[in-house]
Amino acid sequence: MNSKDKQNVKSKEEFCSSIGISVKEAEKILRSTCGGELLYFKSKGTPKERGIGQLIFAAISNSRAGKIKNILEMGTGDGTTTKIFTQLFPSTKIYTVDLPPEDIDYSQYALQYRGKLFNDNISSPNIISVQNNTFALTDTIYADNFDLIWVDGGHRFPSVAWDAHIAYRAAAPGALVLFHDYKPGEPDVVKVINYVNAIIKEEVYFVKDNVYEEHYIAYFTKE
Ligand SMILES: C[S@@+](CC[C@H](N)C(=O)[O-])C[C@H]1O[C@@H](n2cnc3c(N)ncnc32)[C@H](O)[C@@H]1O
Repeated sequence: MNSKDKQNVKSKEEFCSSIGISVKEAEKILRSTCGGELLYFKSKGTPKERGIGQLIFAAISNSRAGKIKNILEMGTGDGTTTKIFTQLFPSTKIYTVDLPPEDIDYSQYALQYRGKLFNDNISSPNIISVQNNTFALTDTIYADNFDLIWVDGGHRFPSVAWDAHIAYRAAAPGALVLFHDYKPGEPDVVKVINYVNAIIKEEVYFVKDNVYEEHYIAYFTKE
């Protein structure tokens, strides 16, 4: 992360207040909608905080209530986050995309997600599960369509680069586009987001994760 980016680092308190909600309110929403286990887990009897992604989504669900019509999730995995989306945004159409078994990247990158947990997580009627490489999405996903985009698909070059491009193009004006895993362990994610940050007119911000050092969710608001 360079010095310009560092000025754009926000704590969870700063992120929540920037969208008009307190952390306490966001935690309350997450607890009552999805359950407290998404905030804390026990390690050797001691409560530990979980990652902040779900807290951020809870904050957005409140501050933009009724305004998020379509969500795009790039990278369904086992559907854990998809389920959180459907709980927090029950009237929103949620497109979630992951590799089909015949894709050349499937055996290397896909989580083992086609079991019962996956099926249960994506079973809500407002979820549209798309089995496709995101590379092919330009055919089916139209520009200016999504109010919230969660980029958490391929973390390596080249897929993370086309995901960033597709997300930028598919974001409606005012949409929040969030990227998981801006951290040293994912150098291609870092490289792509730094590049995007340098070329788009929007400002990219970084929310510090609770759990790991130097781990951020990067985001921008589409103009
Ligand atoms: C980190 S996991 C997603 C986790 C999920 N968002 C969650 O929070 O539970 C990344 C997923 O991206 C998928 N993926 C990787 N490259 C992809 C591509 N080119 N197109 C679509 N999905 C891809 C992998 O199969 C994997 O399931």
